[in-house]
Amino acid sequence: MLEVKNLHVNVEDKEILKGVDLKVDLGKLVVVMGPNAGGKSTLAYAIMGREGYEVTDGDILFNGESILELDTDERARLGLFLAVQEPPPLPGVKGSLLIPAVIKRRRNLPMDNKLMDIKILREVRPKLDSVGLDSSYMGREVNVGFSGGEKKRFELFQALAYDPKIVILDEPDSGLDVDGVKLVAKLLDEMRSNGKGVLLITHNPRLLHFVEPDEVNVLIDGRIVKRGGMEVAEFVEKHGYEKVLSG
Ligand SMILES: Nc1ncnc2c1ncn2[C@@H]1O[C@H](COP(=O)(O)OP(=O)(O)OP(=O)(O)O)[C@@H](O)[C@H]1O
Ligand SMILES: [Mg+2]
Repeated sequence: MLEVKNLHVNVEDKEILKGVDLKVDLGKLVVVMGPNAGGKSTLAYAIMGREGYEVTDGDILFNGESILELDTDERARLGLFLAVQEPPPLPGVKGSLLIPAVIKRRRNLPMDNKLMDIKILREVRPKLDSVGLDSSYMGREVNVGFSGGEKKRFELFQALAYDPKIVILDEPDSGLDVDGVKLVAKLLDEMRSNGKGVLLITHNPRLLHFVEPDEVNVLIDGRIVKRGGMEVAEFVEKHGYEKVLSG
């Protein structure tokens, strides 16, 4: 479904990804882990087509077709969503405005239909509940004054609300309390069961004990240096990333 082939990416003329291959099928949970600065977020941004992330070689395919020529909005409308590592505040933009606007755009509905907004807000309400936030957060400017954990929860909520086919989550557990980590694991598992392809980025094996990933990849210095099952994450947890390279 999502396929990354021999992907080389430059940022500010520096090569960050040096030939990454990766596949995320529907109904699968694929993990990319790795040390700080290994290129995990760069991979996520390149898949989404973020400006400044220049693909110099290789390809990114969605349903067998290259998406390299599509902009971020077009990729999102195909069914790709990235829950970012550090969700930015959106001053002046309330959740109750943003969420229906994005959903209307994805479903090709008329943007000026206010009644539709109310219907959509009612529809996504259980998803807000499921990330542990109450409806007051919809009335606030997105991520403005949210705590670190609240930002991550609101980002997860969007991953659920927009109903993508492939969801990429960049360290969704960072900054969350213990209950929050278990919640993330449960939601990831549900997404997979609902037939979504899940690409989970983390450098922390802690979360993986709760989710039973289908595949674990280790990304170091722009290359996938190891691929396998949960045993790969357990090796990293025990011995650290350097040993992955030497052993
Ligand atoms: N806009 C940029 N300008 C310069 N360097 C950049 C830029 N974006 C990324 N890089 C560099 O690319 C490398 C990979 O960064 P990236 O954010 O992908 O790492 P990561 O694996 O996500 O790390 P972490 O676990 O800390 O989130 C880093 O050395 C980073 O400084
Ligand atoms: Mg990162």
